[in-house]
Amino acid sequence: MEVVIVPDAAAGGEVIAEAVAALLRRKPDALLGVATGSTPLPVYRALAGKVRAGTVDTSRTRVCQLDEYVGLPAGHPESYRSVLLREVVEPLGLSPDRFMGPDGAAADVAAACAEYDAALAAAGRVDLQLLGIGTDGHIGFNEPCSSLASRTRIKTLTEQTREDNARFFDGDITQVPHHVITQGIGTILEARHLVLLATGEGKAEAVAATVEGPVAAVVPASALQLHPHATVVVDEAAAAKLK
Ligand code: F6R
Repeated sequence: MEVVIVPDAAAGGEVIAEAVAALLRRKPDALLGVATGSTPLPVYRALAGKVRAGTVDTSRTRVCQLDEYVGLPAGHPESYRSVLLREVVEPLGLSPDRFMGPDGAAADVAAACAEYDAALAAAGRVDLQLLGIGTDGHIGFNEPCSSLASRTRIKTLTEQTREDNARFFDGDITQVPHHVITQGIGTILEARHLVLLATGEGKAEAVAATVEGPVAAVVPASALQLHPHATVVVDEAAAAKLK
């Protein structure tokens, strides 16, 4: 595992956007795995700047979603599909038909999980998977004690994660769904390159456990230690508890 310490979130966004741009120059039809939440926004903004400047061509780029809330109506502004259309697909000028994700509004959620896992397998390996990290060490929405071999499935969010995400729902935790569909840890580990970005002091403990602790299901992100090509980009605040 490679750890890159940058001064701040904007610098982290630049470093990762440059890695994505280099990938797309080498492989224009690359499959990018995209995360939601606050952390990856500087990456998407830096990448959009490169698209506008004409230094990267995204006309053949494919993107796939990491996770999704269950039960939000289609088109809800905080569904991860809506967020990614707004923050990634539109600003990067991607074709929406090259964007895939699980159906969190499906009547049969278990079938939607299996369908998405099969669609990912059919699309080939994700070339670069961007990840954030929860304050409890989750990746995707694989909460602590998720199996390290897990596949795309329904999960229940911890109270901590629902509290952390209430800010996206007018600060009202009662609006945060209890259930999600998430790529499993085993699914995530199939990507060719994993890039985790963590910023802010609130992530320092989870980062230390991920990078320097044992590989353990209680810290799902520690599974990155098992991957042959994992990069962890942290700002100084998130690096504060590294030895
Ligand atoms: C969301 C996801 C989550 C977030 C994590 C951190 O797609 O995969 O693992 O990355 O909850 O969220 P932020 O970045 O909002 O702190």
